[in-house]
Amino acid sequence: MSRRPVFLALASAGVALAVISVPSLAVAAPGDPGAPRYSAGADGAGDPYFPLAGNGGTDVQHYDLALDYAPPAPAPAPLEGHLEAVATIDLVATQDLDRFNLDLRGLTATAVTVNGKRSAFEQSANELVVTPRPKLKTGAEARVVVSYGGTTTRPTDIEDALYGWVTTRDGAMVVSEPDGSATWYPVNDHPTDKATYTFEITVPEGLVAVANGVLTDTQTTAGTTTWSWNAPDPMAAYLSTASVGDYEIDEYVAANGTPIFDAVDPTRLGAPTADLALTSEMLVFFEGLYGPYPFVSYGAIVDDDSVGYALETQTRSFFSRNAREGTVAHELAHQWMGDHVSPERWADIWLNEGWATYSTWMWNEHRGRATANESFDDFMSTPADDPEWDFVVADPQPLGLFAGPVYDRGAATLHALRVKIGDDAFFELAQAWVARFGGATASTTDFADLAEEVSGEQLDAFFTAWVYTPEKPVDW
Ligand code: TRP
Ligand code: ZN
Repeated sequence: MSRRPVFLALASAGVALAVISVPSLAVAAPGDPGAPRYSAGADGAGDPYFPLAGNGGTDVQHYDLALDYAPPAPAPAPLEGHLEAVATIDLVATQDLDRFNLDLRGLTATAVTVNGKRSAFEQSANELVVTPRPKLKTGAEARVVVSYGGTTTRPTDIEDALYGWVTTRDGAMVVSEPDGSATWYPVNDHPTDKATYTFEITVPEGLVAVANGVLTDTQTTAGTTTWSWNAPDPMAAYLSTASVGDYEIDEYVAANGTPIFDAVDPTRLGAPTADLALTSEMLVFFEGLYGPYPFVSYGAIVDDDSVGYALETQTRSFFSRNAREGTVAHELAHQWMGDHVSPERWADIWLNEGWATYSTWMWNEHRGRATANESFDDFMSTPADDPEWDFVVADPQPLGLFAGPVYDRGAATLHALRVKIGDDAFFELAQAWVARFGGATASTTDFADLAEEVSGEQLDAFFTAWVYTPEKPVDW
């Protein structure tokens, strides 16, 4: 579908309605502060790395995604699935809107209503443009219902890594960092617009559909099963998932009390996933470092197909083929660092990956392997003329989001900060970071400011050397 030519769709019924319902209340005396001044919502959230990701003028509260999915027929049929879906999106206008956008890519919208009225809409490669009538005043609540669907393939991100709704022979692996959610639903696809989610995913009987949060219902009729999920914790779109496959389910309660729902492809049971059993102990360990686990549930999806990486999908981390101990720890730590506190801009991703990597360093120490200090020393043994140091951690550029230094130098930054301000201040900072920005987003500046606030130290030179200068730090 993503390889099809771009087209414009205009619902004829919507056009007719739009023409007859243009309201007269948009006419306002210039300078009249109380009168609405309608304009179009921006086509992006203002993130310089991904200008079309997210949108302006709306704040989504909730997505309800009713997805009807048919995986590909057995080979040699093409590896293409089919999605028929209805997204019900509750949003609030944050400006006076005569138009607003949602991100949608590779699927075709067939009908849009706003507060029950059919709306005109247009679609371009990345954007679904909706013309609500009546227009929406600032603060107005709107229920936007988008019917859409199409053929699913194997979309790729700007680095050509698989992401989004990745069709597999037995279903789909759905991992959408950074802007891949638009490949499977109409969305404000930027972390600054978190929302709650519910899912009703209908798949052929025998397959499992696993989304975020808690399973609330399963209904089987006429050869299909609908899996209903409730994800009440505010979530950035890139962390949403609705993976479908031939999965074995394992449900239990972890030592910290968190209910666990694991879904593992039967071909991956046994040794490749034995490390998943450490999740319970890891939850206790990370709660000790970062404070209470922030969400209603946790668990893993382990699929037999591969996107080549794991992802910290909220409450339900995704693993390609194997879930090894270091990766299990990394994705779990992300639930606090990345999921609960998310990047304000994609340039801030080192706060995700640095914390998750450092969490694994600390877990390794806890398990009697290398200490965090040894991992730091090992990292610092790279000579100053190595190209590894020629990297600005806090501005990695779109093609550097997942580059090595974002992870390793990010982790080393945190360890160096810990040594500089001391363990008490460092772990107070970690918990204050989660407590203050949990449920929302935060930036590198927010982090540096909080570090100064908690430690009482002036840290400009520290952050300049570690995250803003493309050289090996020498003094900090
Ligand atoms: N965020 C993933 C992690 O846990 C990594 C990731 C997402 C990634 N997309 C990617 C890595 C694409 C490589 C390529 O670290
Ligand atoms: Zn990570």
